Amino acid sequence: MLRYARFAREMWHSEVNEAVVNRLAPRPGETVMDIGAGAGAGSMVAAKTGCNVVAVEPTPYMRKVLEARRATSSARKRITVVDGTAEATGVDAGSIDVAWAVNTMHHWGSIEAGIAELDRVLGPNSRLLLVDEDFDDPTHPEYDKFKSKKEEHSHHFASVDPGAVRAQLIEAGLDVAFGGYDRIAQRPAIIIEATRP
Ligand SMILES: C[S@@+](CC[C@H](N)C(=O)[O-])C[C@H]1O[C@@H](n2cnc3c(N)ncnc32)[C@H](O)[C@@H]1O
Repeated sequence: MLRYARFAREMWHSEVNEAVVNRLAPRPGETVMDIGAGAGAGSMVAAKTGCNVVAVEPTPYMRKVLEARRATSSARKRITVVDGTAEATGVDAGSIDVAWAVNTMHHWGSIEAGIAELDRVLGPNSRLLLVDEDFDDPTHPEYDKFKSKKEEHSHHFASVDPGAVRAQLIEAGLDVAFGGYDRIAQRPAIIIEATRP
């Protein structure tokens, strides 16, 4: 719980999550999956578009926050909170139209297992966006905040190799439109954008 306390504000509402949902443009009736949903910064925005949201979150405290937030949302009937990880989401095979993960890839126990799970759950014509902000980049607006604290600076979000993720997604049969370093919501980040034909 304490591990995420310093991100509390960004995890409630974040421009990156908003940009991710806007980019994926979920449609009413689609089923979307927020992998490592945290406090629901992406899930809550997505639910307002009329899609069905599966918020996958392994940390019990975060699931409590998600459930509390869900209970007060007018879209609560379309939000399901699931105890799972990127590597084992617990959702049905081929049931997901849109999936994203913001600032969780660096937590995955195994990127390979996470991609195998995405391969299992993504349905035909589905869309995927994986983003890990690069807080080690001096142009990141939060760079100074993390630089000043040794313990925080050792928390490297962008520790994932985007080339390896890209290669594994292609191997799984996805079309990868982009896999590398770019900016989203004016922040430097690892971004992997793909579709399943
Ligand atoms: C920095 S938070 C980001 C939360 C949310 N995606 C956001 O952008 O606000 C990282 C989240 O990843 C979750 N997490 C940890 N291990 C994970 C795993 N193996 N698979 C998916 N999520 C994981 C944590 O519980 C936490 O909620």
